[in-house]
Amino acid sequence: MHILVTGAQGQLGYDLCSILREEGHETLGVDRSDFDLTDRVATERFLDASHPDAVIHCAAFTDVDGAEQNPLLCRRVNRDGSAYLAKAAQDCGAKLLYLSTDYVFAGIGEDFYTTQDRPRPLSVYGETKYQGEEATLSLCSRAFVVRTSWVFGRHGRNFVSTMIELARKKREIPVVRDQIGSPTYTRDLSRLIAQMIRTDRYGIYHATNEGICSRAEFAREILRQAGLDAEIRPVWTADYPSPAKRPLNSRMSKQDLEDAGLARLPHWRDALARYLSEIGLLQESALFGKRGER
Ligand SMILES: NC(=O)c1ccc[n+]([C@@H]2O[C@H](COP(=O)([O-])OP(=O)(O)OC[C@H]3O[C@@H](n4cnc5c(N)ncnc54)[C@H](OP(=O)(O)O)[C@@H]3O)[C@@H](O)[C@H]2O)c1
Repeated sequence: MHILVTGAQGQLGYDLCSILREEGHETLGVDRSDFDLTDRVATERFLDASHPDAVIHCAAFTDVDGAEQNPLLCRRVNRDGSAYLAKAAQDCGAKLLYLSTDYVFAGIGEDFYTTQDRPRPLSVYGETKYQGEEATLSLCSRAFVVRTSWVFGRHGRNFVSTMIELARKKREIPVVRDQIGSPTYTRDLSRLIAQMIRTDRYGIYHATNEGICSRAEFAREILRQAGLDAEIRPVWTADYPSPAKRPLNSRMSKQDLEDAGLARLPHWRDALARYLSEIGLLQESALFGKRGER
């Protein structure tokens, strides 16, 4: 299959391109230098010329706090750009897979959000990603929406790399205890996407590594597996305000994956160990040590 991947220099796009190639797909990874998503004509021309069988849309305005300061640009990329891409994919007869986020939900309560639950984003980023979902599903007749969360991978800054960096500089790191969700390793998610794109089971999916934890529990496990000594001090989100409001409950049900015959991803602790090993930071002895709290 000839697959075009947007955001190919980003955290997920980079690993996704290599996994698609490993699996034998003719893969064209594009970034802003190939075409800017906010340019409708350039987007249409590029897709018309490359004529892919499938488009996987990883590119996005992903600076969650920055989006509150620059909502217009965020909307142009995540809503309008996604709409241009969806229309162009439809016109050239391609399938489309759009990456979305747990931030489309308000994160109230403790239940797992299903794909039938109504999104109610709390931030500009979440709202524009939801608008991108709607554009994708309404403009392209063969579309997947894949909502993921707390992504970490080798080619970008993420929560894991930030914790490691902080632990090397500080003895104590405050981390929120009341944001609950599931970390997701780019390589695991990429394998699932590579599987999904071959099917015609279009629709909305939630896809993260298995297991749930708080950000503080995740941080503790990162330091434990990396053999770093800093203390994680659990704090409340309300005491650490940020420009964008984030959902406290990011539990997402992955039942739709099973219903479509797609395999769930491994547990996040296992994914973290493989990621740390990939970047040469796994403390092998930690694998036999005490597990985290959850
Ligand atoms: N990271 C997470 O924790 C997380 C969680 C849930 C969902 N997601 C979703 O997963 C997807 C991948 O996330 P990620 O972390 O891999 O993102 P990322 O590392 O920030 O990469 C985003 C990519 O999009 C490109 N891009 C931004 N604006 C563009 C434009 N106008 N035209 C063309 N390209 C543009 C960026 O290029 P430049 O570098 O040139 O700006 C970058 O290569 C996104 O859709 C995101 O919303 C991410």
